[in-house]
Amino acid sequence: MSVADLPKVELHLHLEGGAPPAFIRGLAAEKDEDLSRIFNADGSYAYRDFWHFLEVYEAATSVLRTPEDYHRLTLAVLEESAANGVVYSETFLSPDFCGGRDLGAWREYLAAIREAADIAERTDGIVLRGIVTPIRHFGPDKARETARCAAETAGDWVTGFGVAGDEKSGELQDFAYAFDMAREAGLGITAHAGEWRGPDEVRAALDALRPSRIGHGVRAVEDDRLVDRLAEDGIVLEVCPGSNVVLGVYPDWPSHPIESLRKRGVTVTVSTDDPPFFHTSMRREYDRLAETFGWEEDDFRQINRDAARAAFCDAETRKAVLERLEPPT
Ligand code: ADE
Ligand code: ZN
Repeated sequence: MSVADLPKVELHLHLEGGAPPAFIRGLAAEKDEDLSRIFNADGSYAYRDFWHFLEVYEAATSVLRTPEDYHRLTLAVLEESAANGVVYSETFLSPDFCGGRDLGAWREYLAAIREAADIAERTDGIVLRGIVTPIRHFGPDKARETARCAAETAGDWVTGFGVAGDEKSGELQDFAYAFDMAREAGLGITAHAGEWRGPDEVRAALDALRPSRIGHGVRAVEDDRLVDRLAEDGIVLEVCPGSNVVLGVYPDWPSHPIESLRKRGVTVTVSTDDPPFFHTSMRREYDRLAETFGWEEDDFRQINRDAARAAFCDAETRKAVLERLEPPT
């Protein structure tokens, strides 16, 4: 058995970032929108660096205009995840893109996304939960509106809250109010940090937002005391190695710190972030990790158990996911 065939848990996937380029091209054509600037000649997404990637991401998202568009997107993304052996996934979703932070519109988008997730669960057995996501470079005021949407819809399906976007924009302390609202509504907390800024930003996320998980967090490796703190406090990193390599956080796979973080006792998990943008998939991430670091079946099974334990879902769902991760007896 190849490690790529194992059942998987993915905790860090941006819904729009999972859109196959052909899907976005098709929607653009239906809406008579010229989006040719965001595609290479071979049909893949075209961007120069992370900040240009964010612009291209938002341009692609601009043709997702109705709940029905998000219903179709969710089906397309989950079909791909299920084909990669993912049994449980959490996706970042943003009221900024789904109805402009209007609560009534957000509820409609959410209903369409959940309906698609229910279909995928029935047909492919994949379970999805949503993490509501303020976009950091849209600023803390919009993040509060986003937190209100999150708090009003928190429950069995919207189960998390986590900031994404340009890590170099603004300071995380300014988002603390929004995160407090989300926490009070019972949501699990995560935050992108330590991807484009160094260890100080991971520390700022821990101090200001009190997350149980960090999106990326990999640059914590530059500070031994912070690595110890992550290990001692059981903070779980949502690591996306292929994303980091393609975007140039690290020059190549052997330079990626996922193995050194793990060896030093930090709980790491593996995700794709925005798979078609980064020419990756969960199967591909597993193959590259096995090739680069010699990880074997037991390593991946442990990582998936850790991911399931860190998932923002109820106990019954977690138990069912953990059972699906074990080898058949
Ligand atoms: N939005 C989509 N992908 C992202 C990433 N890797 N970092 C921050 N924001 C994102
Ligand atoms: Zn991300």
